[in-house]
Amino acid sequence: MRYVMKGGNPLVGEVVIGGAKNAALGILAAAIMTDETVTVENLPDVRDINVLLEAIQEVGAVVERVNKHTVKINARSIGSVTVNNEYIKRIRASYYLLGALLGKYRRASVALPGGCNIGSRPIDQHLKGFRALGATTVVEYGMVNAEASRLTGGHVYLDVVSVGATINIMLAASLAEGSTIIENAAKEPHVVDVANMLNSMGANIKGAGTDVIRIAGVPKLHGTEYSIIPDQIEAGTYMVAAAITKGDVTVRNVIPKHLEAITSKLMEMGCEVSEFDDAIRVVAKTRMNHTKVKTLPYPGFPTDMQPQISVALALATGTSIVTESIFENRFKYMDELARMGANVKVEGNIAVIDGVTRFTGAEVCAPDLRAGAALVLAGLAADGCSVVEDVEYIMRGYERFVEKLQELGAEIRLAETDKDVQKFRLSMIS
Ligand code: EPZ
Repeated sequence: MRYVMKGGNPLVGEVVIGGAKNAALGILAAAIMTDETVTVENLPDVRDINVLLEAIQEVGAVVERVNKHTVKINARSIGSVTVNNEYIKRIRASYYLLGALLGKYRRASVALPGGCNIGSRPIDQHLKGFRALGATTVVEYGMVNAEASRLTGGHVYLDVVSVGATINIMLAASLAEGSTIIENAAKEPHVVDVANMLNSMGANIKGAGTDVIRIAGVPKLHGTEYSIIPDQIEAGTYMVAAAITKGDVTVRNVIPKHLEAITSKLMEMGCEVSEFDDAIRVVAKTRMNHTKVKTLPYPGFPTDMQPQISVALALATGTSIVTESIFENRFKYMDELARMGANVKVEGNIAVIDGVTRFTGAEVCAPDLRAGAALVLAGLAADGCSVVEDVEYIMRGYERFVEKLQELGAEIRLAETDKDVQKFRLSMIS
């Protein structure tokens, strides 16, 4: 599937941000750690979430979709600790089922998530954490198996700051005997959100949001009702959309504190950014200024916003330098962007971007979720029509992306066939 769009309209208006996908993935895994019913609200209706819900159902939990953004999960009837369905291999967060099942049943077997388009993504730190809790871990026949006759608290020092490993260890350690300390833990808002959710189920986790997390294991978790925090990256994407189209967009239902790294970069680039209690308004009137961006673990600039900000910098004055320090292969989209007229040179994990005054519409491919969204933003700022192919990636993490952009004034459609693309182009000429 592809999106077809005609650039040039400044995006203007308000957009409401949904729940954080990457928090939701950890929270849904946590929900199966009790036999009581858990209600999760503000769940984003995106593909990765729906795939995880299917996997949860397949192991035997009952999932009731109350509405688009609310589910009730009851995991009393889980009959299997093996997760190996066709789709689960396609989402990285399948690994959270390892921590959740290991914690609750002392055994788990989950299809090993493969590499992906943003680079090699090992899970050695997750496994190191499980071993510190007394589990044995074996990777064989494409599965990760973890097992513990007794799961006991342990001391884990993460070699790299990993969101996934931090959450996974928190999950398992919540139901271990004794205390666990995670050092060099990730501090992302979604780590804090998963910890808050676990605590609302009776877990005892302290220090989430700092680099030392202490978990006192409890024998049992109970049901809860929990509402997920807003998605920092969805919000950031619309903030950059306003900036790149010289628009005026208010993103609503956000936690401005979580967006500070993005806000301060956009201000440095010359945008006007105003913060309200649960909203941020971005106004861009003139061409943006060049700057330097380096991705870092939270509270640094998020790697999941690197493609979007880079696309904006490709239209800014002067030369910008973007350093990607989290993933090894997250500049793949730059070749596509060059086809729209950007002047970029990538060497290893550094992109040197010489700003151009305009992009011209082109047919490009989305290589992954965030880069796909960034190419759409480029298309909305380009002269003429653009087509972004492989938008299934974008659908993994952005709910109603096309509709929300249309509501802000963008000329964009989902096109299933070449004929749809043709039709769109013709409608834009007439
Ligand atoms: C999470 O991935 C997010 N995914 C990613 O979002 C995000 O880009 C990333 O965190 C960084 O913020 C989910 O939450 C499902 P990491 P995760 O473990 O947890 C290395 C998106 O677009 N590492 O924090 O898998 C790793 O290679 C996605 O929504 C190890 O070496 O990322 C990387 O260099 C894409 N060994 C660094 O740590 C490990 O065991 C950070 O990865 C684990 C990670």
